Amino acid sequence: MNQAFLSLKTLHTFGAEAFGREIHFIRSEDDLQVFFGMDPTSYYILGGGSNILPVQTIDRVILRNEIKGREIIHEDEESVTVRIAGGEDWDEFVQWALDQGWSGMENLSLIPGTVGAAPVQNIGAYGVELKDFFIRLEGVLLTEGKAMVLNKEACRFGYRDSVFKQELSGNFFITRVQLRLNKKFKPQLSYGNIAERLKEKNITHPDARAVSGVVREIRRSKLPDVGVLGSAGSFFKNPVVDIDTYERILVLTPEVPHYPAKEGYVKIPAGWLIEQCGWKGRRIGAVGCYEKQALVIVNYGNASGSEILAFAGMIIEDVKSKFSITMTPEVNVWR
Ligand code: EPU
Repeated sequence: MNQAFLSLKTLHTFGAEAFGREIHFIRSEDDLQVFFGMDPTSYYILGGGSNILPVQTIDRVILRNEIKGREIIHEDEESVTVRIAGGEDWDEFVQWALDQGWSGMENLSLIPGTVGAAPVQNIGAYGVELKDFFIRLEGVLLTEGKAMVLNKEACRFGYRDSVFKQELSGNFFITRVQLRLNKKFKPQLSYGNIAERLKEKNITHPDARAVSGVVREIRRSKLPDVGVLGSAGSFFKNPVVDIDTYERILVLTPEVPHYPAKEGYVKIPAGWLIEQCGWKGRRIGAVGCYEKQALVIVNYGNASGSEILAFAGMIIEDVKSKFSITMTPEVNVWR
């Protein structure tokens, strides 16, 4: 295990300068033992750093998940169950699965981050969520130094939510994730313009690779490349509002887009709400609301975490005063 005092700037995708007290690179379950029983407010668990916003100096120890490994633990005619280590890169795993001829993950192509972080917010895109393929995960409850296996029910997955953002927030280190992939391709093409793009390319019988290719193209056209422009993807969750609130907006703007949610509620795209408030493409100093997708806040250069947070706060206030909807960040703010 290495130990060092490092800037966090290269360890997260927002590109904001920040410092961690100590950074520990966790390469095996054994490396976690020294942290057993430690106060959970004294450390942060880090994956690929694609969903965090560190605000200046973090007076905590950073535990970065770098546990590697992929294995097959069950296989039959229909499916294969894989066990992937938490420190593996998510998109490399998706590509590897496609290379083996296993499908299911194609709609989740090109999502930045690690396999271990994927269950925390139940990553989702283009009509598919991690939970749809999830079997169980392994991890360590650091406060008690207890190795645990959690099945799907225990993970309590919701929209960008799980038990790891609730009761187990901050002190459960996910070491391995088990997913069941399909050997027979079952396309999920209903969301957005995936079907349309395939048609444009004259692909009438797409395989999983073709769908992955189209998802990559759509993501590249709408979302900034984090290697070029700092961001953490969607900054906000799409708010889930009750029918009365939705109908109130509908009267004023009949074109309001919406998705189904639990009974009596609908999900309204935060990007649409933000655009309606005039923020799309707007920039203050080095912070901006992305011109192609208003849900994304970008760092054009040397913006600090506090500047990014203040910018997000102004957007939240405007959406609240125009629509009476309080948006919540999807990004985890580290202080
Ligand atoms: N919209 C606007 N203006 C905008 C952006 C979007 O009016 O600036 C409208 C679109 O026209 C569309 C609707 O909002 O009617 C939805 O837009 P989109 O399909 O781009 O998806 P989203 O709801 O904005 C969510 C996820 C993304 C994921 C896409 C595709 C959340 C918070 N975000 O965005 O996830 O890629 O769906 O499935 O649920 C991420 O988590 O980092 C992320 C990028």
